[in-house]
Amino acid sequence: MKYIKLYFLVALLIVSCNTVKQTTQVVENEVAIVDTREIQGGMWIPSLLKGMNENEMQLLGSKMTAEDIYSVNNSSLKDAIVHFNGGCTSEIISPNGLLLTNHHCGYGVIQSHSSVENDYLKDGFWAMSYDEELPNENFSVTFIKRIDDVTLAVFEGVTPDMDEAAKMKLINQNILKVSKAAQKETWQDANVKSFYNGNQYLLFVTEEFKDVRLVGAPPTSIGKFGSDTDNWMWPRHTGDFSMFRIYADANNKPAAYSKDNVPYKPAHHLPVSLDGVEENDFTLVFGFPGRTNEYLPAVGVDQIVNVLNPAKIEVRENALKIVDGFMRNDTEIKIKYASKYASIANYWKKWIGENQGIEKSNAIQKKRDLETEFSKIVEEKDLVGYKTLLSDFERLYKEIESVSLARDYWVEVAYRNVELLNITFSAFQLEQAFLRGGEQAFESRKKSLLNSFKGKFKNYSAKVDQPVFEKLVSLYAEKAPKEFMPSNMMNVDFKALSNDIYANSKLTSLEGATELLSGTADEVIKKLNEDKAYVFGKELHTIFYAKLEPKYQELNLQLAAVQKKYMKALMEVFPNKRFFPDANSTLRVTYGQVKGYAPKDGMRYANTTYLKGVIEKFVPGDYEFDVPKKLVELYNAKDFGQYGDNGKMPVCFIGTNHTTGGNSGSPAIDAHGNLIGLNFDRVWEGTMSDMNYDPDICRNIMVDVRYVLFIIDKYAGAQNLINEMTLVHSKKK
Ligand code: ARG
Ligand code: ASP
Repeated sequence: MKYIKLYFLVALLIVSCNTVKQTTQVVENEVAIVDTREIQGGMWIPSLLKGMNENEMQLLGSKMTAEDIYSVNNSSLKDAIVHFNGGCTSEIISPNGLLLTNHHCGYGVIQSHSSVENDYLKDGFWAMSYDEELPNENFSVTFIKRIDDVTLAVFEGVTPDMDEAAKMKLINQNILKVSKAAQKETWQDANVKSFYNGNQYLLFVTEEFKDVRLVGAPPTSIGKFGSDTDNWMWPRHTGDFSMFRIYADANNKPAAYSKDNVPYKPAHHLPVSLDGVEENDFTLVFGFPGRTNEYLPAVGVDQIVNVLNPAKIEVRENALKIVDGFMRNDTEIKIKYASKYASIANYWKKWIGENQGIEKSNAIQKKRDLETEFSKIVEEKDLVGYKTLLSDFERLYKEIESVSLARDYWVEVAYRNVELLNITFSAFQLEQAFLRGGEQAFESRKKSLLNSFKGKFKNYSAKVDQPVFEKLVSLYAEKAPKEFMPSNMMNVDFKALSNDIYANSKLTSLEGATELLSGTADEVIKKLNEDKAYVFGKELHTIFYAKLEPKYQELNLQLAAVQKKYMKALMEVFPNKRFFPDANSTLRVTYGQVKGYAPKDGMRYANTTYLKGVIEKFVPGDYEFDVPKKLVELYNAKDFGQYGDNGKMPVCFIGTNHTTGGNSGSPAIDAHGNLIGLNFDRVWEGTMSDMNYDPDICRNIMVDVRYVLFIIDKYAGAQNLINEMTLVHSKKK
């Protein structure tokens, strides 16, 4: 794929000349003419920043070189960034492996150490010394040691005349070969990921640490202040942070938990700036964005916005309403369901914002306009291979619509939101394992299943789950496409059905499930197939695997092939545009500036919020807006220590960095490489940035690091943690 590299070089040169226009901005002592809007947005590969990105960052105010951010031979910012248990991002802020991430990223861990008597969610947790730090099972953080372009090796032997399935098969074989052959140390891993929809492949050499301990967390009334009401919103006042520490063996290498392990010594830790931010300050966010769909055709966005999102929103809305009713009246249920509720509510709300943003910004029409232009150029230049792309999209999206919709209903109802059905799904996989791999496969599956059931049932209440089942299964029966509907869902009295199932199934408790799974494989399978919940779930899962998923995969493979070609075509047809690869949970750099925005005509949001705003939102005793007494006292006494800013305590700020899910916990870094904030969210009007980044209204939300320090120091009295950090004044030099 030489053209890619060549193309990049050309695009790079053109872009770096072309961006210099429009509004005036002072850069150092000279006046450069830059429309900063045109050089923001994008999640860039850290090993490829030299050139265009480095140039853009400097135009935005950065004083760093590409090498300061990512270097294989010298320590660089990347050595302080880790993937946090595969989901969030976290950064090292001391020479002793101290990690900072979001409260909502540490939430599951904090919850797992909590009970009604010892409620770290409610009261917070602070380790005052190493030996008070809490170890965690099945938990890890991962460093990126090196990134190599392996595109050529991955495409070896692939020819244009092969069909898609054969191409993918060979590509996957090559990927395996490349990962196996990768140069790495014995304790490291190597894996290959696809970029630009399969037009480029990069190899990542990684290092995973499994002894990661909980160090500190503020109470939920700080770390999750505003909860779901404020989630995805600005102005925001959440101190969304928690702290962990990486432990290593005596040689500073990854090791399983041991009390003899010692705090990890990183190649780099981020100095922490006490100087804060102001409008237009440069910001860089470094982390692991999960997934974006920036290059979908209009018809694809249309389907998400008008067909799929509304269905998923409706399912979750119903589930949330029921669970919320129980949580408000029962503390034990509240603790059990807090984490699950938050994660269901999170995307429910995001999809609503996304739909509104797409509509308001006219994104679908804008995509159509771009496609018109695209077709015009394709015709003019007679680019034969690209002529049918848009009509292929139209046809395939039409074909896949009911399949995707049915699949979303299955995922949302049978897999995600009705817990009993999720349990039947695990049991279904157990039966499948037996059918495919016999006794031995059965036994090993059973073992891991029983293990996972322990965790699941710890936070399960059949009393909550039954009404969710009744409501969601009725919705499924009523609204999911009929061609994939199991017969046991037709003409059913769901109230009677749910009463029957929840009264008689053994799968509604750990004891019942354990009893059901005891005995030989034959006995267990027989018992399972007599269990009412299992029998019901099995039909749904059988149809899913027999009809739904194969059809979906078949169409999706075709769509992916068109998308891959379209991506390549876009880059060729519009050589002056900036193209970053969609997020794929790999390490990326995004940059921008601190900036307020106008959510509506006649309204302007400031870029920073203050503790004053926390007090304004304070509702004593409320489960979302309560404020701890000590924080109110500190506020009244204006006791902000060295962290205040002219008598005010900053809490959160926003910037134009292009982020997505997975970027939570990512550091916000200033022009000199110091930590200024902690990314945790985006603003409501801009959640559409996953499909349509718009520099006018897309903003990421960060906790001001001075608020983090203030809470640790003044609120929690954990000076031990402050003392191990490197606090700097980066502005007042
Ligand atoms: N919206 C943020 C993100 O996607 C924060 C989520 C925290 N959860 C919540 N329900 N408040 O992760
Ligand atoms: N809150 C998100 C996260 O957890 C970040 C986002 O979607 O903006 O990664």
